[in-house]
Amino acid sequence: MEHKNEIVAQFVRRLQQSIESGSFIKLTLSKPGGKDKDLRNVYARLIELKGEQALSFTLRYATRDEVKNHPVPEALAMVGLWLGADFLNGDLFTPEEDVSIQFSKKRKPRLFFRPPSLQAQPSKTHDRQKQYLIEPAGNPYLQPMGITGAQGQVLAAGQAKYRQINKYIEIIDNLLRQHPLPEKPHIVDMGSGKGYLTFALYDHLANNLGLQPTITGIELRQKLVDFCNELAKESGYDGLSFLAQDINDFQPEHIDLLIALHACDVATDIAIAKGIRSGAGIIIVAPCCHKQVRKQMNCRTDMQAILRHGILEERQAELITDGIRSLLMEAHGYQTRVFEFISTEHTAKNLMIVGTKGKKNEEALTQVEAIKKTYGIGFHYLEGLL
Ligand SMILES: C[S@@+](CC[C@H](N)C(=O)[O-])C[C@H]1O[C@@H](n2cnc3c(N)ncnc32)[C@H](O)[C@@H]1O
Repeated sequence: MEHKNEIVAQFVRRLQQSIESGSFIKLTLSKPGGKDKDLRNVYARLIELKGEQALSFTLRYATRDEVKNHPVPEALAMVGLWLGADFLNGDLFTPEEDVSIQFSKKRKPRLFFRPPSLQAQPSKTHDRQKQYLIEPAGNPYLQPMGITGAQGQVLAAGQAKYRQINKYIEIIDNLLRQHPLPEKPHIVDMGSGKGYLTFALYDHLANNLGLQPTITGIELRQKLVDFCNELAKESGYDGLSFLAQDINDFQPEHIDLLIALHACDVATDIAIAKGIRSGAGIIIVAPCCHKQVRKQMNCRTDMQAILRHGILEERQAELITDGIRSLLMEAHGYQTRVFEFISTEHTAKNLMIVGTKGKKNEEALTQVEAIKKTYGIGFHYLEGLL
């Protein structure tokens, strides 16, 4: 026990020293191990309150965040009490080194010292700047992706992507508060592309929520898959990997969360069908181009007077495509929500459909048939797959 306390004390002393020498960047406590299963993790940043240094803790609970500011001596004592009891991981970031304390299953602590992953020191003012869930500094993948620079600052060219990533993580975070994932969730990201959102999701689940996710990105383009696998390895993200495959050929065994963001045309349908078949608890898709339904539309009702304009027909086809997707998901026992994902300033393809397992909508198939009839649509691709 003495040994355990000595190692915790060593970590807390290093924390204190970093604050006193002005080299503290941030502290995170993760991997919940206490009785309060709701408390997922804690972030600490240095602030100045009435001219005094203090640590501002953000306590992230399953359904809410709480911010508590404590003078440094009090804050150090709290960190000492949390470690090994409420949290089994502690990470201190300084420009000289990263210091981690990790407790084994038997609660035996070990200290690790690694080269610094961060250089930037955040502002100490107790300001009201937006707190992003994915912080620019300290995430090993953001710089190789061209979003941040060497000092951990968001580059001008990376601003839009950075905000998009955070918006996405914010949406997922809120969703998971209502529909929590298991401790070791299996997640598949279909059409993962360059992996921006896949990495951010892994980071959030593992480092902010203390889960042990296994995330597989499926992507046709081998070059992107190689890039992402290499980066996952360099980032130490053991549970994150990518496969160069057509999602059509991917046979998932079990999925807790299925994601397909901006997967082209019917790739979204294939992803939804795979999610439904594997019994995924949550399905999240952000559809991209919509070609299949539009090609089939042959409306002979009064709506034709409007749909003769190409752009209106295109928009109506998108609406019907996604509306039917949502109804088909409901017919298969998912409750759905359709909403705007990010502002149109980032991309016009900004609709998100979220399905969570729930009650079947018994009317849904009849409603789909009626819509198809109105617009002269022979079939919706997802229908065929299901
Ligand atoms: C527009 S990108 C989106 C990337 C990423 N999901 C995002 O939102 O940033 C769509 C990706 O899906 C991939 N894709 C399209 N159809 C696919 C299929 N059938 N199987 C696997 N990947 C596919 C493309 O190669 C492309 O990289």
